[in-house]
Amino acid sequence: MATAADTWGINEAQFWLRGDHPEQPVKFDPATGLWNVYGYPEAHQILSDPKTFSSDTQRLLPEKVAKNFEAFSEGNLVNMDPPEHGHLRKLVSHAFTPKVVADLEPRIAELAGELLDGVGDRMEMVTDLAYPLPVIVIAELLGVPASDRGLFREWVDAMLNNNVQFTLTDTDEMEKQTAVAVEQVGKLTEYLREHAAERRRKPREDLLTKLVEAEVEGSRLSENQVVNFANVLLIAGHITTTALLGNTVLCLDTNPEQYAKVRADRSLVPAAIEESLRYFSPFALVSRATTEEVELGGQTVPADQLMMLWLAAANRDPRQFTDPDTYDVTRPANPQIAFGRGIHFCLGAPLARLEGRVALNLLLDRFPHLRSDPDDGPTFVPSPSMTAVRRLPLLLTPR
Ligand code: HEM
Repeated sequence: MATAADTWGINEAQFWLRGDHPEQPVKFDPATGLWNVYGYPEAHQILSDPKTFSSDTQRLLPEKVAKNFEAFSEGNLVNMDPPEHGHLRKLVSHAFTPKVVADLEPRIAELAGELLDGVGDRMEMVTDLAYPLPVIVIAELLGVPASDRGLFREWVDAMLNNNVQFTLTDTDEMEKQTAVAVEQVGKLTEYLREHAAERRRKPREDLLTKLVEAEVEGSRLSENQVVNFANVLLIAGHITTTALLGNTVLCLDTNPEQYAKVRADRSLVPAAIEESLRYFSPFALVSRATTEEVELGGQTVPADQLMMLWLAAANRDPRQFTDPDTYDVTRPANPQIAFGRGIHFCLGAPLARLEGRVALNLLLDRFPHLRSDPDDGPTFVPSPSMTAVRRLPLLLTPR
């Protein structure tokens, strides 16, 4: 039977989005040479133990593929292990504090309001709000012109626009795929390098300047570290939050009783966002490399194996969540791991949650009749490592 997931163009590998469950929580895939981890307790074990499960996954990639990433690894927190990870995280956290984020609320509300002023009796959620809002916020925060967002979109879309699953067994194909992605990231890096150089000469009140000047225990960030970190912020800061905003509206639209509850009681807005993160986890996949042999989910995993940790599947594990395939904004507890967990826990989570709360409240305030267009259904980003609405046409007038 065709499910909604089929008509939305959801990637075939994402079986959990069709309500299916894995045969086992941890499984080696001989076709790709990778270990897939789908279970919640197993994901928890991995994320809590960076010594056994290292984030330096690049050392296990075939040389031809790894060399594509070399230029971007310095300053890329996501792929670093302790103690270097801790030093760099401390330095950048210094510039990206909870206060910096909390102070953005009025500006986020103003921007969301302006974007919604531009719509008529219908809107396309992604183009009209979910894409521009986070990208303008992160661009303004970094201090690069928000008007360049068309360029960022071009580069990032070209990077994401594939539905191929990563594999260790077809090196030529992976080299080709990663070369395309890296070429696009390279354009973003060069763009940011120029802006960072400008801030060194002429400091301003922005995050790029703070990064250039950040100092902890006498050390500063190198030029590559600043640029690569800004790069991670710009990419992570918009594609995932775009997904969160679009996915949350789709979750509410397809679950009318939940939608009615949130409309009736706005204190449920944060819970609606947390549940959307669990149900449609935007950043579906993170990876780790084993440093020694380890028992995981009843399997013995040797050292130097690449683990594909499907956060989105773990967030649907019935051992952790009652009725995992039901979107329920009144779950008594929701320890979803869409932002990861442990030392790499998403640095941007407070910003993503804030943008989600402001945007959803504003949509509910302005459009009491907001619903999806029955004649023009949603589509999803094809990449297996994302869960993200790509297009969601909405009607705004009474039926
Ligand atoms: C790390 C998800 C928004 C910046 C992570 C990780 C996940 C994640 C799963 C952990 C990666 C790992 O363990 O390997 C998300 C989701 C978001 C979101 C689902 C939106 C809904 C943001 C935003 C920013 C951001 C808005 C910045 C403005 C980062 C950074 C890290 C990170 C810098 C690396 C932290 C570290 O390695 O110590 N994110 N993210 N993210 N995220 Fe996010």
